[in-house]
Amino acid sequence: MGGLLIAIDGPAGSGKSSVARAVAEWLGVADLNTGALYRAVALLALRDGLDLDDGIALARAAAGIELSPDGARTQGVEIPEDELRTPEVSAAASKVSAHPEVRQVLLDVQRRAAAEARERGGGVVEGRDIGTVVLPDADLKIFLSAAPEERARRRAVQSGREEEFDRIREAMKVRDRQDSEREVSPLKPAHDAVVLDTTELDLDEVVSRVLELARELQQWT
Ligand code: DC
Repeated sequence: MGGLLIAIDGPAGSGKSSVARAVAEWLGVADLNTGALYRAVALLALRDGLDLDDGIALARAAAGIELSPDGARTQGVEIPEDELRTPEVSAAASKVSAHPEVRQVLLDVQRRAAAEARERGGGVVEGRDIGTVVLPDADLKIFLSAAPEERARRRAVQSGREEEFDRIREAMKVRDRQDSEREVSPLKPAHDAVVLDTTELDLDEVVSRVLELARELQQWT
């Protein structure tokens, strides 16, 4: 037994993190941000000078990383969120995430964290391949999309670097391409996902829609 698991996937700037956080809060369940794991591997790789093309070395670095509702931990120590959110780490995380060896290690980490969340009442798990690969049996799958310009605008506003809009848009384009064209677990909606285009919607509207879908499952009540 246990609570429901909701998978939320989508590209950078689609609103995943904000939506997942708000939905988890409303439902009183865990919020698991799986991107933090790929970012943590990237951070360790940059710090230790690992070759971003060496999947085996990166997988070894991934082996000590754990995921909790508070974020990613390495050797039991929380990694500060701001260290994971730099443009350098974002770009490296996308490269790191293309290696099957890394994805394999992190697959177990994600499933363990999700199973724990389910036992404690449920969870919202956000990423790129949660509905397709990590949790194909998730109770509800949401795929968020939004026009590329709008996603870049949100990222620029969110990070307080509005003057860097052009650079952010270009970096996002590269990341989108890498994330959706890679051979292993490319970014795409699961066949049974509800696809929500958030271009014209604000956060509250998207959150309401997801909560509505969750309530339709009726198990929450
Ligand atoms: O969601 P994010 O921007 O924090 O993710 C960082 C990178 O990690 C992103 O470029 C793709 C990768 N990622 C992934 O491949 N699979 C996931 N489940 C989550 C993130």
